[in-house]
Amino acid sequence: MDPLSTFRLIFCVLVSSNLALAASIEHQSARDLQVLRRATPDAPNGYTPATVDCPSNRPRIRGASNISPEESSWLSTRRNNTVSPMTDLFSRLNISGFDAVGYINNNAHNASALPNIGIAVSGGGYRACTNGAGALAAFDNRTANSTENGMLGGLLQASTYLAGLSGGGWLVGSLYVNNFTSVQAIQNTTTDVSGSLWQFGNSIFEGPDKGGIQVLDSGEYYTTLADEVGDKKDAGYDTSITDYWGRALSFQLVNASNGGPAYTFSSIADDPDFQAGNSPMPILVSDGRSPGQLIVADNATIYEFNPWELGSFDPTLFGFAPLRYVGSNFSGGSLPDNEQCVRGFDNAGFVMGTSSSLFNQFFLQINDTAGVPSLLKSALNSILSSVSASDNDIASWEPNPFFGFNNDTNENANSKQLTLVDGGEDLQNIPLHPLIQPVRKVDVIFAVDSSNDTVSGFGWPNGTSLVATYERTSNASIQNGTLFPSIPDQNTFVNLGLNNHPTFFGCNSSNFTLTDSATVPPLIVYLPNQPYSFDSNLSTFDPSLNNSVRDAVIQNGYNVVTQANGTRDSEWSACVGCAILSRSADRTGTRLPQVCQDCFSRYCWDGTVNSTEPAGQYDPSMIVGVTKVAGAGRLGASMVAAGAAVLTALSLII
Ligand SMILES: *[C@@H]1O[C@H](CO)[C@@H](O)[C@H](O)[C@H]1NC(C)=O
Ligand SMILES: *[C@@H]1O[C@H](CO)[C@@H](O)[C@H](O)[C@H]1NC(C)=O
Ligand SMILES: *[C@@H]1O[C@H](CO)[C@@H](O)[C@H](O)[C@H]1NC(C)=O
Ligand SMILES: *[C@@H]1O[C@H](CO)[C@@H](O)[C@H](O)[C@H]1NC(C)=O
Ligand SMILES: *[C@@H]1O[C@H](CO)[C@@H](O)[C@H](O)[C@H]1NC(C)=O
Ligand SMILES: *[C@@H]1O[C@H](CO)[C@@H](O)[C@H](O)[C@H]1NC(C)=O
Ligand SMILES: *[C@@H]1O[C@H](CO)[C@@H](O)[C@H](O)[C@H]1NC(C)=O
Ligand SMILES: *[C@@H]1O[C@H](CO)[C@@H](O)[C@H](O)[C@H]1NC(C)=O
Ligand SMILES: *[C@@H]1O[C@H](CO)[C@@H](O)[C@H](O)[C@H]1NC(C)=O
Ligand SMILES: *[C@@H]1O[C@H](CO)[C@@H](O)[C@H](O)[C@H]1NC(C)=O
Ligand SMILES: *[C@@H]1O[C@H](CO)[C@@H](O)[C@H](O)[C@H]1NC(C)=O
Ligand SMILES: *[C@@H]1O[C@H](CO)[C@@H](O)[C@H](O)[C@H]1NC(C)=O
Repeated sequence: MDPLSTFRLIFCVLVSSNLALAASIEHQSARDLQVLRRATPDAPNGYTPATVDCPSNRPRIRGASNISPEESSWLSTRRNNTVSPMTDLFSRLNISGFDAVGYINNNAHNASALPNIGIAVSGGGYRACTNGAGALAAFDNRTANSTENGMLGGLLQASTYLAGLSGGGWLVGSLYVNNFTSVQAIQNTTTDVSGSLWQFGNSIFEGPDKGGIQVLDSGEYYTTLADEVGDKKDAGYDTSITDYWGRALSFQLVNASNGGPAYTFSSIADDPDFQAGNSPMPILVSDGRSPGQLIVADNATIYEFNPWELGSFDPTLFGFAPLRYVGSNFSGGSLPDNEQCVRGFDNAGFVMGTSSSLFNQFFLQINDTAGVPSLLKSALNSILSSVSASDNDIASWEPNPFFGFNNDTNENANSKQLTLVDGGEDLQNIPLHPLIQPVRKVDVIFAVDSSNDTVSGFGWPNGTSLVATYERTSNASIQNGTLFPSIPDQNTFVNLGLNNHPTFFGCNSSNFTLTDSATVPPLIVYLPNQPYSFDSNLSTFDPSLNNSVRDAVIQNGYNVVTQANGTRDSEWSACVGCAILSRSADRTGTRLPQVCQDCFSRYCWDGTVNSTEPAGQYDPSMIVGVTKVAGAGRLGASMVAAGAAVLTALSLII
């Protein structure tokens, strides 16, 4: 059977097993056409990359010793535009004994003195997408009540960078592809009127409901996916399972008919609002995999997608390609005269799918997973055997833009194919890597962690991702100038409850030993997923969640980062303000008030370690009132069906 038919078969098998399990899937009534403006469908030929005239300045690969000229020029506008949202925010954070608004205004003329804020949203499937969405809703001044006294609305508007990975990348990608719409606007549209965004009740194995902008029924949905990917293949491009995955995801994440096959990630750079510096810069993360390699090592090259570029600051690749022209046949860092420029390869769904491409592990674990119907198993094995020969079980970015580039260190320099996989496969499930690059000079990172780490039953974060980032920055062969605060082991996280409430790492900048030109790394505000109002530890590979569950997880994520609007600590918003100010205050020699010293003694990890194995299961109790949702029990109860078991196996990795 050819891969295309095999893929259709898998989809059908998954659909039937999923339908059997999810009798509770909520079918929405047909929706009206909803027109939302967004990043542009600027690909020349839909999903299929096509040749175009090259710009007079032929595209080329650049070295990674700095940020791109485009980012640099955008920053000069963006940093200025963060001043007013930052003063608005500080006017609400109540840092008693300190005129934070005056402080920002006094430094407004000097971007290098101002706080430089980054937000990072972890992976973890739909759980991460929706929990992260709750965090962003709390930080977004467009959310109802978020600009009341003591609320955190405006932190998003005051940020410079917003990074996402895997499920968190769906969130970030989806917002930007849809004109940086707000989380609440998406919730409102889909519950109140119409629209197709974030209808996670219809799993990607099932496809969207017909109606509104969606003109396909399930059968046509599979045919469309297969046809679009088939056309790309027929045009001579290597395709991989990620092509199907990205197309399918787009039906949920891009508000356009058929998942917007012509929407590119690079078109975000042309959006007038983005160009005017009115929103943070989005970054998605993927890991590189050398040819033939199956396990992603913790020193794998980390790639980032931003509106202008695809590439890596790591010493291995140390280069960036212009994202818009990826798909062109670069060689040795330039595009030979006889090669045409290609555009349309960087389809937005393909970029989001690349960051969340877990099929490799999916296949590798299939035989060890109990309860998988044999039909499904043999279908998956059949696709595995048909693709593994050509290393097709990953996201294939071929032609490799970095062919012949930095031959001595780039492990893919001799390969025409660049193989990228899920950004969480190196265990760094929070996309911190782009934000700890010294050239970006970030001061504070709000690190939203929706990982499924704790193994004894319930699936909550335990700091694993921070440990992985810390270890990588301690590895001289790969860290290339990146530094990270000291992070204790996971047992300490659980024993000291560092994963049970927000925790700050790296508070004291004088604790870093800086050599040469090294700069102090950002302060990390760790925001681990916790049950405040809902058991938001949904299985990573829960293939569908209805809108009530979706909204309950979003509400819980909102509560995680606001500590339930300050119910757990009435000074929490002041503490957030102190964390934002900390590095800036160090630079300007400003003493922060007593309330900040109190915050730091409450929230900063102080270096204490307790590495003994925690006794018993980690099963945190609900912090505020429970949101009641039809059909949702504590995790486990709903995960009975065979199809789900396969998917759950994947949550080992992210
Ligand atoms: C995008 O959103 C901005 C801000 O809400 C709005 O001013 C602009 O008109 C929107 N752009 C498009 C193309 O809809
Ligand atoms: C949100 O912040 C932006 C940037 O400061 C501002 O233009 C806008 O008016 C604010 N919106 C609300 C609802 O406060
Ligand atoms: C940013 O603000 C500074 C100081 O207020 C000003 O000199 C500079 O021109 C501004 N940059 C841009 C791109 O507006
Ligand atoms: C906003 O606050 C008001 C007053 O407390 C409350 O009635 C309303 O439900 C809140 N709105 C939302 C969307 O939370
Ligand atoms: C969403 O709907 C709620 C309730 O009607 C409203 O309070 C809120 O302002 C809306 N939010 C946005 C961003 O439209
Ligand atoms: C990072 O790696 C590149 C390429 O190997 C090297 O030229 C550069 O000096 C390294 N930077 C630091 C700070 O180590
Ligand atoms: C799973 O088992 C089948 C049948 O025994 C075998 O052909 C296949 O190679 C195995 N797959 C993996 C990933 O081990
Ligand atoms: C780099 O590797 C490519 C591909 O193997 C080769 O064609 C090229 O000549 C090499 N370049 C250098 C400078 O060694
Ligand atoms: C933390 O999570 C990792 C990754 O799942 C797991 O191996 C480890 O046992 C967990 N430790 C604790 C104490 O939860
Ligand atoms: C990554 O680690 C492996 C195993 O320790 C080692 O062989 C390889 O050289 C390392 N790669 C880099 C770029 O450090
Ligand atoms: C977390 O992963 C484990 C497998 O390691 C799985 O048994 C559990 O159901 C998962 N929990 C969640 C919340 O995803
Ligand atoms: C301070 O630095 C030392 C040495 O790197 C480290 O062991 C310690 O954990 C750090 N303390 C804190 C609070 O980060």
